Amino acid sequence: MSERVKVFLDEEEIPKQWYNIQADLPHPLPPPLGKDGKPIGPDDLAPVFPMNLIEQEVSTERWIAIPEPVLEILALWRPSPLYRARRFEQALGTPAKIYYKHEGVSPPGSHKPNTSVAQAYYNKVFGIKRLTTETGAGQWGSALAFGCKLLGLECKVYMVRISFDQKPFRKFMMQTWGAECVASPSNHTKAGQAILEQMPDTPGSLGIAISEAIEDAVTSKDTRYSLGSVLNHVLMHQTVIGLEAKKQLEKIGVYPDVVVGCAGGGSNFAGLSFPFVCDKISGKDVKVVAVEPTACPTMTRAPYAYDTGDTAMMTPLLPMHSLGHTFVPPPIHAGGLRYHGMAPLVSHLLQEGLVEARGLHQLECYEAAVLWAHTEGFISAPETSHAIAATIREAKQAKEEGKEKTILMNWSGHGLMDLTGYEAYFAGKLKDYELPEEALQASMKSMEGFPKPPAL
Ligand SMILES: Cc1ncc(COP(=O)(O)O)c(C=O)c1O
Repeated sequence: MSERVKVFLDEEEIPKQWYNIQADLPHPLPPPLGKDGKPIGPDDLAPVFPMNLIEQEVSTERWIAIPEPVLEILALWRPSPLYRARRFEQALGTPAKIYYKHEGVSPPGSHKPNTSVAQAYYNKVFGIKRLTTETGAGQWGSALAFGCKLLGLECKVYMVRISFDQKPFRKFMMQTWGAECVASPSNHTKAGQAILEQMPDTPGSLGIAISEAIEDAVTSKDTRYSLGSVLNHVLMHQTVIGLEAKKQLEKIGVYPDVVVGCAGGGSNFAGLSFPFVCDKISGKDVKVVAVEPTACPTMTRAPYAYDTGDTAMMTPLLPMHSLGHTFVPPPIHAGGLRYHGMAPLVSHLLQEGLVEARGLHQLECYEAAVLWAHTEGFISAPETSHAIAATIREAKQAKEEGKEKTILMNWSGHGLMDLTGYEAYFAGKLKDYELPEEALQASMKSMEGFPKPPAL
């Protein structure tokens, strides 16, 4: 075999520290605010998160050591392989070299356990016995169920109803890892009951499920809430992806021109890209692209504003691109890309002009995922297909410009539990969906009266 397909690292080479981009931001991240518009302190978050994770959330230390018990569990699948997508390149006839980090090798099948294991660990050492969370496509719920089981915690997952109905197999995975999974909105919480009264047939949303999971956490004994994306510490836990990718590319003497990831709350995109954004801050020329669906255009059409992370307004106000916390996304198949907000760190980097955003339609993404399956073989999660479609656009541009660009993409997860989406695509039942301006204006009303983040 003349040409290399994969680059592996030895287990010894799993990163021993997470990279915290807060240390390197040109301007500091605006703080989260309380309902009174004043910055909140760590104590305000204590009913929801353990103090050791709150410390990480606000830390500006560049490197944070990964605890040994977390490394031992990560070693079940890390370091993840870096692939060169040669067959895909050939099918596109592009001069671009396409590399991808394969995060589908974890037991739940995505990047999500990079943080679920860490979060379960920090909660356990803080004396917490039970975690609650929300999940969209079920990837995060299954990842937290897995993390909790390996660390001996109980776990309850509020799963967005549309995904609960479309993707029953993720629920069975959560049950296999010992978690309880209910459809959200549920009648298990006051927030869920109130929504069901108003909208009995709602498909649910991540914003609603977060309200339920937080209410459960703050009203139950020895329980805290765990979030699968958006927050600073969650994004930081994912940086093992980019740190490994950098080492792998260094081994073959390559540095990317373009780094691409899909973005729901922003965690897999941040995980791959932040170590490269760090270089960009120090002057390196690298293009960093976050991709979202046109149906939930948080970065490409929504304002940078202060908004709550959930529908019932239980979280503090976060500085982020937001469609408004009352936004109920249309039922496209990429359940994990349907959150109303975008991580404050990713939103901030967009403001800084250090990252770019693209919005893509779902049919283009499914078409890209099918080409991927026909060439690279792996069946992609519908979320991941957005990164693939954006990579195709970059590769085609390289072809038009006759440039030998190197593209690095995050293959955030497999789609083996999401085959109903493929079935609908092949049956011609899926449609493209552009969020109508009136719907955007209506959901943005929920942010009226909130303070505005300072201009840079
Ligand atoms: C495979 C996969 N990729 C991407 C995402 C989007 O989340 P994030 O933006 O936090 O990476 C999800 C969310 O569920 C997912 O399951």
